[in-house]
Amino acid sequence: MHELKGLILSGGRGTRLRPITHTSAKQLVPVANKPVLFYGIEAMAQAGIDQVGIIIAPETGDEIRAAAGDGSRFGVKLSYIVQDQPLGLAHAVLTAEPFLGDAPFVMYLGDNLLQGGIEDLVNAFRTNQPDALILLTPVPDPEQYGVAELRDGSVVRLVEKPSEPQTDLALVGVYMFTSCVHAAAKAITPSLRGELEITDAIQQLVDDGLRVEPHVVKGWWKDTGRLEDMLAANRLVLDTIGARMDGELIDSQVEGRVVIEPGAQLWRCTVRGPAIIGAGASLRDCYIGPYTAIGEACTIENAEVEHSILLAGSSVRDLAGRMEASLLGRNVKIGRDLRQPRAFRFLVGDNSEIGIL
Ligand code: DAU
Repeated sequence: MHELKGLILSGGRGTRLRPITHTSAKQLVPVANKPVLFYGIEAMAQAGIDQVGIIIAPETGDEIRAAAGDGSRFGVKLSYIVQDQPLGLAHAVLTAEPFLGDAPFVMYLGDNLLQGGIEDLVNAFRTNQPDALILLTPVPDPEQYGVAELRDGSVVRLVEKPSEPQTDLALVGVYMFTSCVHAAAKAITPSLRGELEITDAIQQLVDDGLRVEPHVVKGWWKDTGRLEDMLAANRLVLDTIGARMDGELIDSQVEGRVVIEPGAQLWRCTVRGPAIIGAGASLRDCYIGPYTAIGEACTIENAEVEHSILLAGSSVRDLAGRMEASLLGRNVKIGRDLRQPRAFRFLVGDNSEIGIL
């Protein structure tokens, strides 16, 4: 087999995570203070893949390049491939054809997270040499995903987001292909949502009599496209962290597995893990509960925060109740205003959501 390459899809629009994704790529939203995209790059490196192409959109590409760089810090060589419009996952493959050439490749959706990496699956692909290998997992809401119907262990039918799913086996966003996928992607036409679906390209491989090997994944998998999935991914990753204390505790206590990054200072706080407090964060008189990831240089004063993600530079002050299950973008300010008349005062972007006790 040729040397395997990697292809990470980090284009698209990210409509489900607005307003965060109005100004930032969804693949850079952090899970346990690390961009989702980096988990995919690390999975490639761990599986011994050193040439990785990243599909980027014109609007968010620069930000992704700036974040991931040339890949040297992950031990891979990253090449960036601009997809002019988000015309579908199979369109992304066709856009990457000059980079991929005849090489077999692993395609990883840049907003997906797969526990345990991809090493074993890549080894199965190398050993069994099917034309394609797909990953599946049972889900409670198959209509939200591409699904696969199996018969006697073989893939017979794949449907993208079916309104009446015949199976609960969702396509996980990690796929392995030989170069025959290019012809399949050229043979299909856009779906009702106007995209060239990778699901249809794989169906084309099945219809052409090629061998598509299904693997049901054992660990957890998350597509971080929605808020609740983002929080769930944050929870799952925080559950695996070890404690580390590089910041400063002043009259504060930490319980359980807590990471405190360098330069973070905590005065009179209690942090109950698993949780992570980013570099340079400043926390006073607060309680940070389990499954919380506080980004770099955040400020929290006189407040309680739990099961939430705060991006860099945000601040939360003087809340009377506990903030939970929340995602704050960068440099968001939440606070209590004691001026008269007493009222709520908001400056909030499009598509934001605010829940008040
Ligand atoms: O997460 C698994 C699901 O991913 C599969 O079950 C579906 O079969 C598959 O179609 C895909 O569905 P989504 O609707 O979740 O795909 P989404 O539009 O979120 O795109 C996935 C990633 O690919 C995301 O990081 C953006 C990127 N992308 C997407 C499109 C449409 C591109 O780079 N280019 C594109 O044209």
